Amino acid sequence: MVTGGFRTKSGMNSALGNGVTNLIGIGRPMTLDLDAPNRLLSGAVEKLDCVELELKLDDRDAESEMPEETKAFINKLGPGLWFQYQVMQIRRDRGPDRHMRKKRGMTGLQENDLKAANELEWPPE
Ligand SMILES: Cc1cc2nc3c(=O)[nH]c(=O)nc-3n(C[C@H](O)[C@H](O)[C@H](O)COP(=O)(O)O)c2cc1C
Repeated sequence: MVTGGFRTKSGMNSALGNGVTNLIGIGRPMTLDLDAPNRLLSGAVEKLDCVELELKLDDRDAESEMPEETKAFINKLGPGLWFQYQVMQIRRDRGPDRHMRKKRGMTGLQENDLKAANELEWPPE
């Protein structure tokens, strides 16, 4: 099994056809479209969206007073959190939200964790 970056039906068929792999995993696109494999198999689409390429702070955040190191940190680690946020949306039956504000999706989970951590008794009794 191979996973990571497969987005086109032709690319997948080529990897399967030449014996590189016998099973392909699809990760990030499925957080936005649980039906993605079926749509590829049926021929409804040839290529899945590459949303990961767009996951950078929006201009208004990139131009904000936020320290440059913080912006770089969010742009590096945030995309993974953005996809986790989509999974939470699905789990809560809200469905994925691909238009979610980038900064919110890339930092929201950390802010929630921080809030929860602040409410914990520490050190524990
Ligand atoms: C929300 C999310 C959760 C993931 N959780 C795991 C995990 O628990 N263990 C793991 O080995 N990979 C995990 N992955 C990585 C995927 O299995 C996959 O290897 C990776 O996303 C690259 O494939 P892609 O380009 O199709 O996204 C996760 C990916 C996403 C988007």
